[in-house]
Amino acid sequence: MMLIQPDVSLKKYHTFGTDVYARFFVEIHSEQEFKEIQQHDVFKKNTILVLGGGSNILFTKNVDGLVIKNSLKGVEKIKEDDTHVFVKVAAGEVWHSFVLWCVAHNLGGVENLSLIPGCVGASPMQNIGAYGVEIKEVCHQVQALDMKSGELRVFSNAECEFGYRESVFKHRYKNGFFITAVVFKLNKKPVFNTSYGAIEQELKKMEITQPDIKAISKAVISIRNSKLPNPAEIGNAGSFFKNPEISKKKYEQLKEKHPNVVAYPLENEAYKLAAGWLIEQCGFKGKRIGDAGVHTQQALVLVNYGAAQGTEIYKLSQQIIEAVLNTFDVLLEREVNIY
Ligand code: EPU
Repeated sequence: MMLIQPDVSLKKYHTFGTDVYARFFVEIHSEQEFKEIQQHDVFKKNTILVLGGGSNILFTKNVDGLVIKNSLKGVEKIKEDDTHVFVKVAAGEVWHSFVLWCVAHNLGGVENLSLIPGCVGASPMQNIGAYGVEIKEVCHQVQALDMKSGELRVFSNAECEFGYRESVFKHRYKNGFFITAVVFKLNKKPVFNTSYGAIEQELKKMEITQPDIKAISKAVISIRNSKLPNPAEIGNAGSFFKNPEISKKKYEQLKEKHPNVVAYPLENEAYKLAAGWLIEQCGFKGKRIGDAGVHTQQALVLVNYGAAQGTEIYKLSQQIIEAVLNTFDVLLEREVNIY
């Protein structure tokens, strides 16, 4: 049932768990309900914010508008051939539940993305990625309703313009579409990506020499649990910053001054720096100011120990950006959406 409620706390609808309010709030369970809400005065007269799992947002103020929680559900095989299965997943499905469904059906492609918080509908927004895999490798289509006209638009993989934690939905079409479903192209005969160091070590620890989908998923879950705080226990939104890309020249200068700098060469002669390392070197790892903090195991993750306000976490992120800029002359960019 669709019910527009006034003055709703968003605390349980976003993973940083800060206490902010929405002027209006509604949960949408079907495309039909979205079309109905579009006809409503509250929709027409307010700014709209769509929330999925709320796992990539920091609220620095209340939402003086309408928050729409996308709760569309359903997982459906739509076609298959000798090598692939195409599965349509509704936007409100929990991402990790979908990964477990793939593991149970022995369909490859998303096992490295196990345990990422959030919903399926948000996964293409920032092209979620972990342990050497990004969603762009398995995303066949994104289905979305135009926020203004309500018309269905189908985005092919190329039309999503995926980049590192980027897509058309994050900037060009920000607030322009209500994502209803993502169609994934999953492998019946998966090719595993275990090249990310931590996975290989974990598989060794598990004494697995011939990994399958299940083993890789298990290894990733174990690595994530050891490094990343569980949002159900400590408020956070995963990596708060992106790993910055720098030129080869800049990398060489940095390396001379800081021989231990952690960086990965990219295809285009550039380098990606481990922002967690930069932040740790600036002395922020484990730092806590009131209830806002930097995670003890992974400096790229900011946390809310309980009663932090969004503005306090934001302020801490500002201090980090300044310190990294002063020490390394590298500008960190926030990965989390700031509201
Ligand atoms: N490092 C440190 N100190 C730290 C953290 C990291 O020195 O406090 C160095 C270490 O050398 C480590 C390296 O940085 O080996 C890389 O760290 P990690 O493997 O934890 O990955 P990351 O680059 O910090 C990225 C993603 C994560 C993803 C992991 C694994 C971004 C912004 N983050 O983090 O994604 O899980 O790789 O693939 O690209 C997220 O986006 O929310 C997220 C958690």
